[in-house]
Amino acid sequence: MDQPTPVSTRPPTVDIVREFPDTGWGDDGPTHGVEALIEDGAVLSFPHLAFVLSANERRFLDPRWADGKAKNISLRWGGVGAPGGEMRGAAGAPDDLAALQAMITRYAEQSEAFALRLFPHYRGALKRGNTSFRPVDVAGRATSWRQDDTRLHIDAFPSNPMHGTRLLRVFCNVNPNGRPREWRVGEPFEAHAKRYLPAIRRPLPGSAWLLAATGITKRRRTEYDHVMLQLHDRAKADAAFQRDSPQARVDFAPGTTWVVFSDQVLHAALGGQHMMEQTFYLDVAQQQRPQASPRGTLERLLGRELR
Ligand code: SIN
Ligand code: FE
Repeated sequence: MDQPTPVSTRPPTVDIVREFPDTGWGDDGPTHGVEALIEDGAVLSFPHLAFVLSANERRFLDPRWADGKAKNISLRWGGVGAPGGEMRGAAGAPDDLAALQAMITRYAEQSEAFALRLFPHYRGALKRGNTSFRPVDVAGRATSWRQDDTRLHIDAFPSNPMHGTRLLRVFCNVNPNGRPREWRVGEPFEAHAKRYLPAIRRPLPGSAWLLAATGITKRRRTEYDHVMLQLHDRAKADAAFQRDSPQARVDFAPGTTWVVFSDQVLHAALGGQHMMEQTFYLDVAQQQRPQASPRGTLERLLGRELR
């Protein structure tokens, strides 16, 4: 008798990466006006847009510059009276740390000029968030399932409620040995929300106040933040979702920059080492189409506002 045809166990694929030929960061390049594309959940990829390190900076491509407590070395911006970025998570001699800080600062400036060129509609509205340098290998980074970024997730943070503010991220692979940043990307946000929304309960009365009063959250966790965190946690905890949901493998080669709304695009980092990342915040009302945001989508699906 014939063998039964094996049932394919490969999950359905998704096609959300869009490539562009840019080679320069600055204002001199073409103005793309790709707001609609990224607001619809695309990953914008620039395979010829490298962040170039000087000969003297290449020594920083080594995890020993990380202090071992944080997985990233980061610059925090915007403190009153602190116009420069404050560096966290690095260990070394003062001269070395100053050079490292200058390198990460240059990434912040180049990626900001780039974001303003890509998204003219966001001019005056993008706020610079942390800049990070990630010299630690993705393998072995996770300490718990909730922090395990090798599982598909949208970005949402237990201690940092966003109140609907968008998270726009500019990544660049700076690996010197040809190693790609290996990602998976997943289903569209609306499909993802529909998958878990029916099971998500409203927050307990008083819980937002308690979380803020005890310092667990930096500010009030709104119902929007509650739902986003539930989506993040439920996806990471759901082995069947991780295995079977629509997804695609994407390898970002060294010298590639990619831009994504990470609160909207399902993503996972499977492997790689040495990456730059710049976060920008964008008020949801400043989007071209706020209704396409996670908040707009969730409110439409629920038929009410999420305050
Ligand atoms: C993440 O944002 O989940 C991780 C991205 C990365 O480190 O490549
Ligand atoms: Fe993430």
